[in-house]
Amino acid sequence: MENVNWTTNNIPSQQGKTFLITGANSGLGFEATKVLSKKGAHIIMTARNLQKGNEALEAIKKENPNAKLDLMQLDLADFYSIRNFSNEFHSKYSKLDVLVNNTGVMNPPKREVTKQHFQVQFGTNHLGHFLLTGLLLDILKNTPNSRVSVQSSIVHKTESMKPDIHFDDLNFEKSYNRDQAYAQSKLANLLFAYELDRRLKTNNINTIVTVAHPGYTKTNLQANSGFLMSVILNNILAQNVKIGTLPILRAATDENVKGSEYFGPTKMMELKGYPKLVKSSDKSYDKDLAKKLWKVSEKLTNLTYEF
Ligand SMILES: NC(=O)c1ccc[n+]([C@@H]2O[C@H](COP(=O)([O-])OP(=O)(O)OC[C@H]3O[C@@H](n4cnc5c(N)ncnc54)[C@H](OP(=O)(O)O)[C@@H]3O)[C@@H](O)[C@H]2O)c1
Repeated sequence: MENVNWTTNNIPSQQGKTFLITGANSGLGFEATKVLSKKGAHIIMTARNLQKGNEALEAIKKENPNAKLDLMQLDLADFYSIRNFSNEFHSKYSKLDVLVNNTGVMNPPKREVTKQHFQVQFGTNHLGHFLLTGLLLDILKNTPNSRVSVQSSIVHKTESMKPDIHFDDLNFEKSYNRDQAYAQSKLANLLFAYELDRRLKTNNINTIVTVAHPGYTKTNLQANSGFLMSVILNNILAQNVKIGTLPILRAATDENVKGSEYFGPTKMMELKGYPKLVKSSDKSYDKDLAKKLWKVSEKLTNLTYEF
């Protein structure tokens, strides 16, 4: 049992390491970029909006002129954008130590779809990252001791949100429930992470996969969640972004992990606090469910993973 809080002081030098962080212009992705660049990492920031991405990059450079940052455009709600991104990434870089699948969209009040007509939370949070990771797998495999770190959420086990993979209506076409759609996408993040870690191990590949969740952290994510959450609860209950980013930083850098670890806060029912190992729901460890989701995801993204 750990008695000492895990903080950014626990992160060793990241000099020589290359990170790719999705959704790096805002919230947790932005904070993670700031911290890791101070530790000497080279970071490829991605943003769907290059202007927002540039403003974020400049803000970090202002604080830390030595930060090694590149910025690339990536819209995870568009498979063409993901494939173009991957082609450009392959032409520019030959290694990737850590892929941080952080981008997320939560609770649009009306049903929205991605460019390829998938419900936007399932399509972006899960399918977008599934495709991105598969396209970058060759570079990850060629980078010794590389890892993929995935941002999930406590809602994957919030019973009122009926967390499940709704195979009969993955895209919520029959009836749209924004909370259930978000919970499905965040459960899918965990099922994908654990299944990918298992498949990498079965194929004797030393890339590992870790997962994190930030509890409840004040960011732009809650913008769709109404006045109560986005203004009142955000200012009373939510933790600040510096502490909320620690679980994903730990998942991405802790050298004592072997794969499939899940880090999150442990205070106030995992809403707040410093990161420790936490347990995800029983459903997230269901291997049959993970295999079924994997098969559907390969079909929907038209990508077969090559190990
Ligand atoms: N904050 C929390 O309490 C909390 C709790 C549980 C889990 N999480 C997870 O943490 C992750 C980061 O969220 P956050 O709290 O930092 O929220 P945030 O401040 O809203 O950041 C989300 C990031 O994702 C980007 N994004 C959204 N849709 C995208 C798309 N189609 N393509 C590319 N990028 C896209 C956003 O870009 P724009 O700026 O252009 O919108 C932004 O950079 C998400 O996966 C979220 O589910 C957060």
